[in-house]
Amino acid sequence: MAKVKTQFVCTECGADSSKWQGQCGECKAWNTLKEFRESKSPAGRPNFDLDARRQGYAGATSKVQSLSEVNLDEQARIVTGIGEFDRVLGGGLVNGSAVLIGGHPGAGKSTLLLQTLCHLAKQLSVLYVTGEESVQQIALRAQRLNLPRDDIKILSETNVESITETAKEVQPKILVIDSIQVMHAPGVESAPGSVSQVRESAAWLTRYAKQTGTVLILVGHVTKDGSLAGPKVLEHMIDASVMLESSGDSRYRTLRAIKNRFGAVNELGVFAMLDIGLKEVKNPSSIFLNRSDEASSGSIVTVVWEGTRPMLIEFQALVDGTSMGHPRRVAVGLDANRLNMMLAILNRHGGVFTGDQDVFINVVGGVRVNETAADLASLLSILSSLKDRPLPKDWVVFGELGLNGEVRPVPNGQERIIEAAKHGFKRAVVPFGNKPKKPVANIEVIGVKTLDEALQLLRDY
Ligand code: TYD
Ligand code: MG
Repeated sequence: MAKVKTQFVCTECGADSSKWQGQCGECKAWNTLKEFRESKSPAGRPNFDLDARRQGYAGATSKVQSLSEVNLDEQARIVTGIGEFDRVLGGGLVNGSAVLIGGHPGAGKSTLLLQTLCHLAKQLSVLYVTGEESVQQIALRAQRLNLPRDDIKILSETNVESITETAKEVQPKILVIDSIQVMHAPGVESAPGSVSQVRESAAWLTRYAKQTGTVLILVGHVTKDGSLAGPKVLEHMIDASVMLESSGDSRYRTLRAIKNRFGAVNELGVFAMLDIGLKEVKNPSSIFLNRSDEASSGSIVTVVWEGTRPMLIEFQALVDGTSMGHPRRVAVGLDANRLNMMLAILNRHGGVFTGDQDVFINVVGGVRVNETAADLASLLSILSSLKDRPLPKDWVVFGELGLNGEVRPVPNGQERIIEAAKHGFKRAVVPFGNKPKKPVANIEVIGVKTLDEALQLLRDY
């Protein structure tokens, strides 16, 4: 009888504990420890290679060598052909890598993968393992979306041992598991979807992928609170984790890299869900910037940097006299602390008091802005609403604000200005340090050093 070791694993941070506790000792989250039974029997551990020296998830032979000796040919990328997807992945899929695609049910993960892989299957062998939908459902969807169906191989299976058995015969270059939550591994007793099943199944499959040089794509559902069932449990095994999210109830989907060993994170890809499946949005600025023709107070456009490219987004602020003793500060798509800081700077260095006002600020289109480059724009949109003074529609503003009221330069200033000019903006208010030496075509650039100068501009225009 194989010995079974029982452990308790936190679903939030993946920390182990030998006994159950109400609170995780590591991350202090409550009620997140779940029982995890690790099989100690050799049969419960995958081994796809007779070479016993191969260890760990990567399953690589351990041999000391210098970095320059490492063979890089195997790291060639497989370009998926879907531009936004490739960009988020950092230029395509890397051989032998494990990629996790997360998202809410209905986000379009299966659709995105089906669309990508039906086309890729023409050049490479692809095995699509479905544990959720029947093969008929998938065939029907492929037919409806008018995808080539001749080359892609499809398998309905939830046992990872059978999957790797089949994969050894088929020898796919790309193996898709839809989804990891319904998989189960031999030797693990708990139900599919539990931490132990997800962890063991993913480890089993990753090991197969690394040892055979197969690209492994795992689909994972996120739970209501936005975390993947055991995200941290998976994160150390996989090479890249991307999230497909829908912003509100809109038909747009954003694809974002959370972790990527082969490229930049925070890269954003945008798709639209149409009746013919997911379609790339090559110019996302145009959707987040769907403005009415009339200039309105409180609305200001800024250029944020998303991964490797600029994107235009719009701030909307509403400032209104408070009817309660305690004024409200609501920031949607923006850090609330940042908003409070802007109001303090506005008061101290701009001489504008908002202590008796409710302040609401929103980033249009459901995007989240984490960049300090949006400071100046958010502050000006608040001021514009407070004074009920619209800014001309063809102005764009960016810059970081310091606590002393200075306007600080931000990275990639020139590219931001060029992006704004491309979208027909005529005037850019930017930090003085970002003002290009040579004029940029079709746009007037005004460099400001302090908040005062920026406010002066508003009074004068
Ligand atoms: P799906 O890929 O099944 O989501 P996931 O695998 O992430 O759970 O996407 C299904 C959703 O997308 C569903 O709500 C319907 C919608 N959809 C369309 O609007 N148009 C289409 O062409 C397809 C295939 C799906
Ligand atoms: Mg699905």
